[in-house]
This record gives sequence, C-alpha cells and structure tokens, in this order.
Amino acid sequence: MIKRPIIIDTDPGVDDTIAIMLAKANPVLDIKAITPVMGNVGYGDTSQNAIRLADYLDIDCRVAKGAFQPLFIESKTAGDIHGEGGLAGYTLSKSERQFDDYAWDVIKQEAEKAGGELEIVTLGPLTNIAITLLRYPEIKPLIKRIVCMAGAGYMGNMNAYAEFNVWVDPDACDVVFNSRIPVVMCGLDGNDFCGLTIDELKEYMGKETKISPLLDHIFSFFIKRRIAGGPEDDIQVINDAITMAYLIDEKIGKTEKYRVDVETKGTLCPGWTIVDRFGKSGKEPNVDVLVWSDKAMFKDMLFKMLDYFK
Ligand code: RIB
Ligand code: CA
Repeated sequence: MIKRPIIIDTDPGVDDTIAIMLAKANPVLDIKAITPVMGNVGYGDTSQNAIRLADYLDIDCRVAKGAFQPLFIESKTAGDIHGEGGLAGYTLSKSERQFDDYAWDVIKQEAEKAGGELEIVTLGPLTNIAITLLRYPEIKPLIKRIVCMAGAGYMGNMNAYAEFNVWVDPDACDVVFNSRIPVVMCGLDGNDFCGLTIDELKEYMGKETKISPLLDHIFSFFIKRRIAGGPEDDIQVINDAITMAYLIDEKIGKTEKYRVDVETKGTLCPGWTIVDRFGKSGKEPNVDVLVWSDKAMFKDMLFKMLDYFK
C-alpha cells in the first residue's frame, strides 16, 4: 500500500476528535504530525487535547506547538459549543510526550521530507498554515493540496455567511486561499448532505471498541444538543469528520472550482467566504468547493472505523 503523508491541523474539539479517529482508522494515511491551533477552545486546551488524543489513538507522530491567537484580530472561541475543555467534559489521560517544534517549522520539515507528496487537512482556523506560507513561501510547491474544513457557499454558523474556522481568523484563510496551492474547501453547505439524525448517531454507540468510551461520550453530547435544538436543528453535521472522509476518499464528494474571496474587512459578515459562482469578480478560480457529499458512503466509513478499533 502506498501511504500518503499527511499533517492534521486541528482545534480539538469534539468533531475534530471523530475526524482524527477516522484518520487513524485508515492506514493509507501516514500521519506525520498533528499541529494544534486555538479555536473551539483556548490553545491551552486544544494543544492538550491534541497530544492526549495522539496517545489515546496510539498515533506515532509529531505533535507541534501551534498558534494561540489569530494573525491580526482578537482571539475568539466557540464558547461552550464543544463542552467543557473542548471534549464535552471528557478527560483524557495526561500525555508524557513532549511537544515538538513550532507548527510552521514542522510543516516545512515534513513538506521537504515528503518531496511534494504532503497533504494537509485543516480542521480549525488556518492560522498555523498561513504563518507557514508567510514564513516559508518557498515550500508552496511541496504541498500537494490542502483540504480545509472551512467556509460555506451560502450559509454561516457565526453570522449570516461566516463559518467558525474562517470567522476566527479570516486573514489566515485569505492567505491560504490565495496561495495558489490546490485547496479544497469542505464548507458547511457541502458537508450538510452528510448530516446524521439522532437515530443514526445511536447506530454507532455501545459497540465496545477501543474508542467507544470517547466516541459514545461525544455522540451522547451531540444527541443532547440535537434534542435541545428541537425539530428545526435535529441533524448533526460532523463537519471535521466529513472533511477527513473527503481527504481519505474524494469519491465521497463532488467539487466545483470557483473564485473564493474572504471578507476580512467587513463589519456585517466578517469571515464570509464569497463563492463567486457566476464569475462576476473576473478573477481566476482558486478553490475547489465541495458542493455535495455522499451520506451513505460517510456512514459506511464510520462503521469501518469502528471495525478498525475492535
Ligand atoms: O464550523 C465548524 C468548525 O468549527 C469545525 O471545525 C468545528 O470543530 C469548529 O472548529
Ligand atoms: Ca475543528
């Protein structure tokens, strides 16, 4: 099997956790590093969650130090959306590992070692990636592609049109989308097709696998939130896991290439990823936008993940 070198940039995060489980369950992915970034919760928690998840999932990789604040604007988090500590209150054992170099240095080193085959999947704000590209522009040709859980075509979860990861650091997203590196944007709308009902979430619980204590805790947290959301909000879209599923096997989704610019200065919808579907900007398309995803395939990948951890 030809293994694919990847780096997971993440702000764990309950859905980040499911995504990292999915990555581990697909040995075709050679996880070279996990690079934590602030986001869902503060950097102190995201970095600890990342290094402890690497232990919990027995991932032999580098865990870097990452950015604890956005490039230019004030730090913001997702509040209690991911529960206490970012993992719905679940406490993972303390890790004995040491954090490695800074994310931007680790990404550069791994990109050089992979000789152009390195893929990066981002599950949080794009600050680490932007710093890498600003500090080491020469490595851009060495990055095969960046698959981002970021943005949306026509909806938002932080304002009418901004998605959280972009809203936290719109300037960083702007740097990445204008890097000329192949970028896939798995946004809220493209991911939405893989939303799971409460009954579907329950199909994955109580399976007594190595990951079941944590997965069941997170899925129970999802179910509580969906019940609280009422009938108009009873579908759980595990955004980061769908993004990871796309990285693993792009047959799960359909993308279309558009010009995407990021609102970095606006006051009404800062962090809006403006998908120019009709070419009105006259600018060269720069992002492959996920416009559809296959729920049946996603569900099957989650079941296969449970089988891996039996
Ligand atoms: O908007 C959803 C994204 O923001 C996910 O990556 C979630 O983990 C949060 O980081
Ligand atoms: Ca995330």
